[in-house]
Amino acid sequence: MKVLVTGAGGHLGRAVLTRLRADGVSVRATSRRPRTGSDVEWVVTDLATGEGITEAVDGVDGVLHLASAPLGRQTHEVDVLGTRRLVDAAATAGVGHLVYISIVGVDRVPIPYYRHKLAAEQVIAAGPVPWSVLRATQFPQFLDDLIANSGKLGPVIGDRAVLAQPVDLGEVAARLAARLVAGPLRGIEEYGGPEVLRFDEAVRAWRAARNSRRPLLPVRIPGRLGRELRAGGLVTEALPRGVRTWADHLADTYGGTGRR
Ligand SMILES: NC(=O)c1ccc[n+]([C@@H]2O[C@H](COP(=O)([O-])OP(=O)(O)OC[C@H]3O[C@@H](n4cnc5c(N)ncnc54)[C@H](OP(=O)(O)O)[C@@H]3O)[C@@H](O)[C@H]2O)c1
Repeated sequence: MKVLVTGAGGHLGRAVLTRLRADGVSVRATSRRPRTGSDVEWVVTDLATGEGITEAVDGVDGVLHLASAPLGRQTHEVDVLGTRRLVDAAATAGVGHLVYISIVGVDRVPIPYYRHKLAAEQVIAAGPVPWSVLRATQFPQFLDDLIANSGKLGPVIGDRAVLAQPVDLGEVAARLAARLVAGPLRGIEEYGGPEVLRFDEAVRAWRAARNSRRPLLPVRIPGRLGRELRAGGLVTEALPRGVRTWADHLADTYGGTGRR
């Protein structure tokens, strides 16, 4: 089986390459810049311009589509129109299964990026290539960066009651690989971490792990966005769940037990 991984140099992409390599899968990987190594065939591909997409999908059985441009002005061009370019090329090449990584809550939490992710899901579902969508909850690295960068050197600023359910990157990678092999779902499956945490709990554990004295400056996110985030718009009850916890991530990253 030959598999194309888009966005293979990103956080999740690197975990997926590790997983597929361990599974003995033959991998082609995309990046916008020339790369070598990781025992994969790298191709230069830009979803925003269409460069390299035809070559990327040529001869592959399946696609794990992870590439995304959440920041800046290119999100629509890359995530929605780029996904359409990928689907069209994959259809022409006769790809048998395209698996797309999305995010739990894209259909209910009013974050602009999520509108694009939802639109990309719809492009895939309406397209001719047999498909699956895996909506994952937040990666711990994302939550970690969010806390570290919120308020920078001063207090951590956040809404205490927002609920999160961090899920380990390696476990998401394994789930994606399993989904690809299991065949097209023609539907959406959700996958979350083992525990639902309030933002203040996550910050408390993060501070302990980093020996940080930065206090939490609570704010209340207003409007529908705040209501959805506090009501669990980003979490899922779907089973199975990952097993690696936020504390495990903190211990791996900062040492110690990471326990609260
Ligand atoms: N972060 C989370 O908590 C979370 C949770 C659930 C799902 N997800 C989804 O998981 C996926 C991967 O997330 P991540 O955190 O690993 O992201 P990431 O590290 O930012 O990786 C995304 C990759 O997309 C590629 N990319 C950006 N613009 C591109 C373009 N114009 N053409 C082709 N490739 C382009 C980049 O690769 P190059 O720079 O090498 O071209 C980048 O490495 C995303 O689809 C995201 O929505 C994320």
